Amino acid sequence: MQKLMMHPRFGQINYEDAGQGAVLVLLHGFPFHSGIFQEQISILSQQFRVIAIDFPGAGSSALLSHPDMSMELLAEWVKAVLDQEHIAQVVLVGHSMGGYVAMAFAEQYAAMLKGLLLLHSTAYADSEEKKQARIRSIQFMETHGAKLFLKQMIPDLFSSSFKRVHSDQVERVVRESQQIPADQLIAYYKAMLKRPDRSYLLRNLKIPIAFVFGKEDTSILLEQALTQVSFPADSHVHILDQTGHMSMLEQPKKLHLILSHFMHYCRAET
Ligand code: MLT
Repeated sequence: MQKLMMHPRFGQINYEDAGQGAVLVLLHGFPFHSGIFQEQISILSQQFRVIAIDFPGAGSSALLSHPDMSMELLAEWVKAVLDQEHIAQVVLVGHSMGGYVAMAFAEQYAAMLKGLLLLHSTAYADSEEKKQARIRSIQFMETHGAKLFLKQMIPDLFSSSFKRVHSDQVERVVRESQQIPADQLIAYYKAMLKRPDRSYLLRNLKIPIAFVFGKEDTSILLEQALTQVSFPADSHVHILDQTGHMSMLEQPKKLHLILSHFMHYCRAET
């Protein structure tokens, strides 16, 4: 069921709330919306309560592009939904930027987490190279607008085989992302740019932590990302073949199995 709440500071927050039982929270990445997890929501809500939250400017959530946009602020956005629903404990899954938010959430609200899964994401800050690329992207959006930027950027997030066979799905993702205004997208990039390294948390959190990577991901490079997977005491690592940055669309069946298994594991462990 789609739900809307009105938050005194943030305005309207849109989220999907489906199923019953142990709570799985899905946080989408940049520049997507909660609907990117449509298949996962419909299948996993048969076993669990799935909450998928739209960040600012996504779905019917309010725009929020002021300068204090940050991963910490987005973590408060997530907390607001959990408070609204009186939810005390969750397994948190963050896709890419959603994973950066999940790390900021974990820093503030570790006691609320029964498990954490970084989906094509990382606990590290941006590398110097990625920072420079982000600055160039911001300049590109300021000059040419966001639509062209998204049209060029999004196809690169998929594996070459997926792009070839499912060009319709790639185009749909491009079209949907183009609904989000340039100011909002730039605010996200600036917020990601300034996020700190939170890899220390992977060592400190006393919960199961899982990572899902795609071998063909050009946004989260496998070799760099793999250096953090030994930090957690209870670490689960999945590396998907023929997959880029978007396993929820590229490998939905494998992702269902991974998420469902992780949910059961976290319930048994904590
Ligand atoms: C995302 O999918 O959220 C982005 O690729 C994250 C990023 O730009 O680091």
